[in-house]
Amino acid sequence: MGDHLDRRREEEILEAEQQVYPPPEHITASANVSPEDYERFRQQGTEDPVSFWEDRAHEMVDWFEPWEKVLDDSNPPFYRWFVGARTNIAYNAVDRHLETWRRNKLALIWEGEPGDTRTFSYYRLCREVNRFANILKGMGVQRGDRVTIYMGRIPELVFAMLACAKIGAVHSVVYGGFSVEALAERIEDAQSRVLITADGAWLRGKIVRLKDIADEAVKRSPVVETMIVVKRTGQEVYMETGRDFWLHELQQLPIASGYCETEVMDAEDPLFILYTSGTTGKPKGVLHTHGGYQVGIATTLKWAFDIKEEDRWWCAADPGWITGHSYIVYGPLILGATSFMYEGAPNYPYPDRWWRLIEHYGITILYTAPTAIRGLMRFGDAWPNRRDLSSLRLLGTVGEPINPEAWRWYYRVIGKERCPIIDTWWQTETGNFMITPLPVTPLKPGSATFPFPGIIADVVDEEGNSCGPDEDGYLVIKHPWPAMLRTIYGDPDRYVEQYWSKFREQGWYLAGDSARKDKDGYFWIIGRIDDVIKVSGYRLGTAEVESALVSHPAVAEAAVIGVPDELKGNVIYAYCILREGAGAGPDIEEELKQHVRHEMGPIAVPARIEIVDRLPKTRSGKIMRRVLRARAMGLPEGDLSTLAD
Ligand code: WT7
Repeated sequence: MGDHLDRRREEEILEAEQQVYPPPEHITASANVSPEDYERFRQQGTEDPVSFWEDRAHEMVDWFEPWEKVLDDSNPPFYRWFVGARTNIAYNAVDRHLETWRRNKLALIWEGEPGDTRTFSYYRLCREVNRFANILKGMGVQRGDRVTIYMGRIPELVFAMLACAKIGAVHSVVYGGFSVEALAERIEDAQSRVLITADGAWLRGKIVRLKDIADEAVKRSPVVETMIVVKRTGQEVYMETGRDFWLHELQQLPIASGYCETEVMDAEDPLFILYTSGTTGKPKGVLHTHGGYQVGIATTLKWAFDIKEEDRWWCAADPGWITGHSYIVYGPLILGATSFMYEGAPNYPYPDRWWRLIEHYGITILYTAPTAIRGLMRFGDAWPNRRDLSSLRLLGTVGEPINPEAWRWYYRVIGKERCPIIDTWWQTETGNFMITPLPVTPLKPGSATFPFPGIIADVVDEEGNSCGPDEDGYLVIKHPWPAMLRTIYGDPDRYVEQYWSKFREQGWYLAGDSARKDKDGYFWIIGRIDDVIKVSGYRLGTAEVESALVSHPAVAEAAVIGVPDELKGNVIYAYCILREGAGAGPDIEEELKQHVRHEMGPIAVPARIEIVDRLPKTRSGKIMRRVLRARAMGLPEGDLSTLAD
């Protein structure tokens, strides 16, 4: 395991372990979960996670029909939660609020990058969702059908997701920063007959031509029969007669009425597929369901971020990732909270855009990623200092380990030493926060602190023994939890193999991260132990980037690695062997970068591409990325006895 820990993180952890930041008095005094309750919940969650989650299921959401059994573990690892219960997450997120005073409360405040704003009360949100749901039904979408959604951060993305949930369709949101092949592959795997997209998206003052990308993707994956297009940027786009429809035109039709019956779903019915990168091969369609998922995200959000009626919550992620699914769309709405969403780049037109938004809208809680914090930190303290950030009461971080330096800057300059930093460790697969402080937890900079109540996490060695203090090991979850993924869409074997085979006898979930606990029991996440690379917090697989590279006619073979980077956490280095006689020009590296951008999207573009004659391989032909990584970082190459030549 030691291999995986870079020296830098090791030193950071050893130093930061000694520093404890007690929770501020004013937060502890009124927290949703008091220090005493926290102790009680932790105890209940450890001794009897099933009864712990059953209590939360009663408390956090409404059910049309109760469950017969809380957890069915008769066929592990295919666990089922709230067996027999009937519900619909869209009912809990939208419909039920209309019966209370919240019908007039703001559900969503939105600002576009050009500065335009839109706000939606729960009442208005419900109407928008219903109209969208009726349009989907009019297009023939039925329960269980998959609908792919590909757009920027605009309110229609939220409406589209909720509309699918409402009618029992399964959404598959593809991040708007992905490009042609990434989109095509996900459409194909999900077999979506309907694609919802937009003409374009605003980013740094420019238009990303989403519709063009969608057209090209659909050429490659012709299963799409209908495209619904939101007009966002207004530039000319191609519309295919009989296939493509403008949303605003559909909304004029009588079918788009403001009332739509909410489907009664089984707790275990699929809600969405979200693709994420694994160790090998194609991205995996992580499948989540209506029942357990809503219980998990509502509980974790309410407790970890202390959500109150009067809060203005800003999760600055993209709805296209799990963070956005759980904590922009479903979680805050289930709680009846007010959520803020911003379309564009943090530094457009100036590096204080985010701080202006916090001041202008009175944001009380900000949740973002270390890479964004480091990026904004670079511009200096003057930008945030010129803005009134006094509305903030809590801050959060997610996506990769936060280095203590960025943590302290966030704490001091943004939070003015008054706001606890909630460092949440979790994954697309886990659905909700797994290891996180509550506002009452004493913090250490760079540690996600302790498992959430009801979550049994540990760090273990190869044999499954718990590691001692400061010993690195595998991060595992030892008991199922309601918001866990249920399978990999269309590939149950891969679900078993990927997550449950390493510690099969014990029946533990393997997270794919290495971690350690310190002498006080604080968890420190170190990093991935597989071929997943975190670039600016985005999760990419070496295999996907490699296959984008070899899809270029000049490339015979490619190997990709992640290399630590000050700003982005990691960047991608690629090593390519060229095809003889393919006529690669002198600018081949640049051409390959453009190719990856076109196929996968900007986040997958290697920082460096090196043309090589051969790649280090084992005798069985497996690329030894470890050796490439050591070379790139100027470290000793370690044991080379398995190297082919
Ligand atoms: C991987 C999951 C779930 C939200 C976004 C990422 C890394 C996530 C932390 C954290 C250290 C973290 C892990 C994990 N990660 N949060 N607070 N500290 N590392 O979801 O794209 O599925 O990635 O992100 O490596 O396995 P994801």
